Amino acid sequence: MEEQIKNIQTESISKISQCKDEKELNDLKVKYLGKKGELTSVLRGMGKLSPEERPHIGSLVNQVRDELENLISEKEKEFTRKELEEKLKKENIDVTEPSKKTSLGSLHPITQIINEVEDIFLGMGYKIADGPEVEKAIYNFDKLNTPPDHPARDLQDTFYVTDDIVLRSQTSPVQARVMEEQKPPIKIICPGAVYRSDSIDATHSPVFHQVEGLVVDKNIAMSDLKGTLEMFAKKCLGENTKIRFRPHHFPFTEPSAEADVSCFVCGGKGCKVCKGEGWIELLGCGMVHPKVLQNCGIDPEIYSGFAFGFGVERIAMAKFGIDDMRLLFENDVRFLKQF
Ligand code: DAH
Repeated sequence: MEEQIKNIQTESISKISQCKDEKELNDLKVKYLGKKGELTSVLRGMGKLSPEERPHIGSLVNQVRDELENLISEKEKEFTRKELEEKLKKENIDVTEPSKKTSLGSLHPITQIINEVEDIFLGMGYKIADGPEVEKAIYNFDKLNTPPDHPARDLQDTFYVTDDIVLRSQTSPVQARVMEEQKPPIKIICPGAVYRSDSIDATHSPVFHQVEGLVVDKNIAMSDLKGTLEMFAKKCLGENTKIRFRPHHFPFTEPSAEADVSCFVCGGKGCKVCKGEGWIELLGCGMVHPKVLQNCGIDPEIYSGFAFGFGVERIAMAKFGIDDMRLLFENDVRFLKQF
């Protein structure tokens, strides 16, 4: 029996020392020390021994059991330590590792121009007005003295939602809405998106942005319009910017004009931006037609006004040196982040 115990001792010690993980260790614990374990069954067989042999064998078994228990507990500690070490290694934070970059966005060039234009006009005492992009044809056309047979009302030019509702083709309908709601003095600008049935190319898009301006009061004259636009052009495009009027026709203004600004790149000598002209076409404007005032409930005998409207894309393209309008709508961040 002594030999059997010694065999168990040698075998178990070698197996426990070589064991690789907690599960294996547990199995060995059960195998040798468990209720049905090998050492326990030796103890059970003690009854068969002579009384002289019993104490010796008993103490040998106890000694081996103690030894195994110690060994197992050492092993257990070793595994816990290893596990902790591995965990620490895994959770180790490398403070020298470069951090992940979160990229900050920026305002779209169109938004930047609109903000700038708003600032300039707010500084001149204007208020900012707003109107619907899905607009009644009566506001987009009729009240603005644009009769049903006017070419601008053609299906080819304007997006119709129904016979009498359109996607506004200009910001001018906001003029009519404001005049109906407010009494003079009126001094507003209205920035916003407009829609036209144009195919996309480098200078056209079915959606673009305009800023409309309207002033109505007693004794408003063409000179007020010119002075206002001159001030705007200098603030927006540079102190040396000059402005010139060319006669034009708009149904809602009389007289009407188109305003050009001296090229702010070459100063008027002629360059790529102004296509050698020295001047860049900026906007449409004029004195509000008496019929328009009347259509909107304002007495043209007492009041007069001026109005203007310009494309935001055109200014953004000129100011930022962008030669293709499509870039402003494609929203490729590689392009946008330059501004
Ligand atoms: N609505 C015109 C356009 O889209 C621009 C314009 C011209 C607006 C003259 C005005 C104006 O208010 O007086 O071409």
